Amino acid sequence: MGKMTGTSAGCRKYRILFVDDEEPYRVVVSQIMAEIGFQCLSASSGEEALAILTETPVDVMITDVAMTGMDGIELAAEAKRRFDVDSIVITGHTREYTFDKIIAAGAKDFIAKPFHNHEFIVRLKRVIRERELLADRNRAETALKNSESRLRALTVRLKEVEEDLRKAIARELHDRVGQNLSALNLNLSLLQGYLPDGMAKKTKRVMDDSIRLLGETTEHIRDVMARLRPVGIEEYGLAAAINWCVRRFSDRTGIKVETDLDGYVNRLPLPCETELFRIAQEAFTNILKHAQAKSVTISLRPVGDRLRLVIADDGRGFDTRDLQISADPHAGWGLVSMKERVYGLNGKFKVVSEPGKGTIVVVEVNRF
Ligand SMILES: Nc1ncnc2c1ncn2[C@@H]1O[C@H](COP(=O)(O)OP(=O)(O)O)[C@@H](O)[C@H]1O
Ligand SMILES: [Mg+2]
Repeated sequence: MGKMTGTSAGCRKYRILFVDDEEPYRVVVSQIMAEIGFQCLSASSGEEALAILTETPVDVMITDVAMTGMDGIELAAEAKRRFDVDSIVITGHTREYTFDKIIAAGAKDFIAKPFHNHEFIVRLKRVIRERELLADRNRAETALKNSESRLRALTVRLKEVEEDLRKAIARELHDRVGQNLSALNLNLSLLQGYLPDGMAKKTKRVMDDSIRLLGETTEHIRDVMARLRPVGIEEYGLAAAINWCVRRFSDRTGIKVETDLDGYVNRLPLPCETELFRIAQEAFTNILKHAQAKSVTISLRPVGDRLRLVIADDGRGFDTRDLQISADPHAGWGLVSMKERVYGLNGKFKVVSEPGKGTIVVVEVNRF
C-alpha cells in the first residue's frame, strides 16, 4: 500500500477535491487528507467545485450531498460526465438521498454521516485503486491494439514482398533457365537426328537418357514456376487460374474436385484475385496434407455485393478449438496466413470443421 499513500519517494501525490458548504467539515477533511499524504483542494459549492475541475486535474472528488445550489448527486454526475472524475458522496440519514440514487447518478461510492476517519480513508483509497487499475487496463489494451495493428501492417508488407519475390524468381526462371532448357532440348533433338543409324547402343542410350532428363527438368521448372505465379491469372482471371490449379491437383492426387466458378464474371482487381488464389492454393495444400478426402468442391459465387469463395472437403476434419491452444509456434501458419490475407482484403473468413465431418473454408470479399 506504499504506493497508495502517495508519500513515498517517486510517487505522485493524489489530489482530492472536497466539497461541503460547511466550513468545519472542510477543515477536518483537509487535515485527514494531509495526514495520509494527499493533497486536498476544497470547495463550498457544486458551482465552485466545477470551476476548480475546469482548471485542475483531480483524482477523486468527495462531496456532501445536501448543499445549497447544486446538490452532491448532480455534482457527481457532472464531474463524471465532463471531467471523468469519480466521486464519493457523503450522505446524512435522509430519505431523499438513497444510496441507490447516488450510485445510479454515477458516483463511485458513498459514506453515511457520521463516519469514522478510518472508513473514510479506506473507501477513498479503494476508489483510487480501482481507478488506477482501470487506467492500467486501458493502457495495456491500447498497447495491445497498437502492437496488433503493427503486426497486421507487417503481415501485409510481408505478403507484398513475398509476391514481388515470387514474381521476380518466376521471371528469372522463365527468361533464363526456361529459355536455355528449350534451346538444349532443340540441340539434343538435332544431335539425335545427326547420329548415324548404326550408332553404338551405348551412345544412343545416353542420348535418350539425356533427353528424358531434360524433359523431366523442364517439367519440374514449370511446376516450380506455376507454384510461384498463378498460371494465367493475369490474362484469364481467377476462375481460369483456379481451374488450372484444380486440374493439376486432381491429376496428382486422384482426388475428385467439383468446381462451380461460372458465376464469377466481373473480375476483381488482380492483387485481390491473387490473394484469393493463394487462399485456395493453401486450402488445397491442407487437403492434400491433412484431409484424406475423397472429394472436394470449390465454388466462387457472387452473394449480394460480396464474392464468396468456398472450398469444402469430405475428409477427416479437425477440432478448430485445437488451433487456439496449440503452443507450437511453427504450427498452423496456413490458416493464419489465409485469415490475414482475407483481413487485408477487408473480407470475412471462416473455417468450419469437426473431426470426421470434413472441412469448409469460406471467404467473402467485397465485389466493388
Ligand atoms: N482440410 C483439412 N482437413 C483436416 N485438417 C485440416 C485441414 N486444414 C487444416 N487442418 C488442420 O489444421 C491444422 C492447421 O493448418 P495450417 O494452419 O494450414 O497449418 P499446417 O498445415 O502447417 O499444419 C493442421 O495441422 C490440421 O490439423
Ligand atoms: Mg497448411
